[in-house]
Amino acid sequence: MRPYELIKAKRDGHPLAASDIQAFMAAYTRGDVPDYQMAAMCMAIYFKGLTTPELQAWALAMLHSGEVLDLSDVPGVKVDKHSTGGVGDKVSLSLAPLAAACGVKVPMISGRGLGHTGGTLDKLESIPGFKVDLPVSDYRRLVKDVGACLIGQTATLAPADKKLYALRDVTATVDCLPLIASSIMSKKMAEGIDALVLDVKVGSGAFMKSQDQARELARTMIAIGQGLGKKVVALLTDMDQPLGRAVGNALEVVEAVEMLRGRAPADYTEVTLALTAEMLVLAKEAKDVKHARERLAKVMADGSAEKKLCELVAAQGGDPKAITDLSRLPTAPQRASVPAQADGFVTGIDTEGIGLAAMALGAGRAKKEDAIDFAVGFTLEKKVGDPVKKGESLVTVHHRGDLKDVVARVQQAYRLGPAAPKARPLVVERLEG
Ligand code: URA
Repeated sequence: MRPYELIKAKRDGHPLAASDIQAFMAAYTRGDVPDYQMAAMCMAIYFKGLTTPELQAWALAMLHSGEVLDLSDVPGVKVDKHSTGGVGDKVSLSLAPLAAACGVKVPMISGRGLGHTGGTLDKLESIPGFKVDLPVSDYRRLVKDVGACLIGQTATLAPADKKLYALRDVTATVDCLPLIASSIMSKKMAEGIDALVLDVKVGSGAFMKSQDQARELARTMIAIGQGLGKKVVALLTDMDQPLGRAVGNALEVVEAVEMLRGRAPADYTEVTLALTAEMLVLAKEAKDVKHARERLAKVMADGSAEKKLCELVAAQGGDPKAITDLSRLPTAPQRASVPAQADGFVTGIDTEGIGLAAMALGAGRAKKEDAIDFAVGFTLEKKVGDPVKKGESLVTVHHRGDLKDVVARVQQAYRLGPAAPKARPLVVERLEG
């Protein structure tokens, strides 16, 4: 069938044959199907969904759009982690060196900012010199020698996701379960791993707003991974407020380094340790999660996790001195406070609203071609449950003089009330294949 007919069939709710999906994806990857036809197809999928066989064919077509790496010549168990996306989610930045410092091999293909969420690659690029577009030969060598390597999709590794990811970001087709599941699993299955830990975010800052949706996404991805012979564990974690206090690329790198030094906010530290502990168990570097947590505490306390991050940064062309001396990272010239408009407690934060406000400030892209301002972002002075006084600062905005409507947006995102809400668990649920 011609691309037009396939788009029309999906738009009208008819299932697509696996061979048609395969041909459509291959043509898109080659450039024979233009972005506007793929955008129309994604929107049709957004509204009509994909059946289980269609989703399987779609994910496999994305996976086989490029090379599927075999890292069996790299000694050790290769385990990665992927998040479905959130605000202030800088987990990969600390998790990769933590896991590698404990002997896990971490081959990681990450993403850029997507929708209102930040991206690991953008955060890493705020470290001067850091390269995320390394050739596969370097990726393989660094996984073996350093223990971790974090790159983006390339023209040969998950190329369909490279194109689709950027396209969905600007066509309002990100928050769609089959497109998220296939995007994540196609690149994870291409990177040469033995096992995978999924961080499925749930809440107002996640693409999945409810626990039921998040569970369905987790189950879908576990099934794709299992179908390809990989062990997959998923944690559903809270994204009803930004993770930690930093939102914005360089600010998040600072918080990630502070986490390795044991000085980061408790929520971010806990989610990172819970996910990394699962990786250690999958890699057989720990007999159970408790043992894994002990090993992680040790590599944080003796400085070897931070040393591993410096090694990783240097190996990927970055300046490791920017890690040991965080003042070398980009900083915004101006700061402004967002004052609370009433007395009370923070009862909730519209986390997607915070993510969109950070994008408006320049921390994310509105169009594919937009450059990111690494320095701008937010420091959350108040989180859910904290008491506030009228006029007290809720958030510090790091900016370049043009605040746009960011103060009002942040004020709108904060909900204040007369009493602190009940604390929510950080790890909401665990699923396993
Ligand atoms: N992360 C991805 O890699 N893809 C998505 O679609 C969403 C989050």
